[in-house]
Amino acid sequence: MLSKTIQEALNAQIRMEAESSQAYLAMASWADIQPGLQGVSEFFYKQSDEERVHMLKLIRYVNERGGFGVVPPLLQPIITFQSLKRVFEEFLAHEIKVSESINDLVHMALQEKDYATHNFLQWYVSEQIEEERLARTLNEKLELIGEDKSGLYLFDRDILNYRMQQSAGKSH
Ligand SMILES: [Fe+2]
Ligand SMILES: [Fe+2]
Repeated sequence: MLSKTIQEALNAQIRMEAESSQAYLAMASWADIQPGLQGVSEFFYKQSDEERVHMLKLIRYVNERGGFGVVPPLLQPIITFQSLKRVFEEFLAHEIKVSESINDLVHMALQEKDYATHNFLQWYVSEQIEEERLARTLNEKLELIGEDKSGLYLFDRDILNYRMQQSAGKSH
């Protein structure tokens, strides 16, 4: 059985994953209507789906442990962006925020001596290492590319491969 504190914290994380899914969906839709950003758009559609899976995993876990996984309300995320660079900066900043939240949860699980939740959260700990690494790599690439059009063309063409490389060897 989950303690009230842990249950509330897990429900807050459910909300955060839902918000991530919404934020990335908005990035996908924005990129979808920009010329030449099909790859980036596809990338964020996939990221959005993945965040929904993270949310579902949490809902099922909370329910399995005798709690109630609360489906959060939808807030409109940021829907337009000044530049591609801005999108990826937001992506990294968001993932860093999620990592901090997961770390706080892990800490709380230990304090409450909830070892089952502590164990469950390890999957999210590894996931955040990968997500942050991917976001950092993409930001570095964009930094190098700058305003170079052919560089941007290749970035968009290859972005789904970077994503696959990153998730290779990682189980979902
Ligand atoms: Fe996530
Ligand atoms: Fe993520």
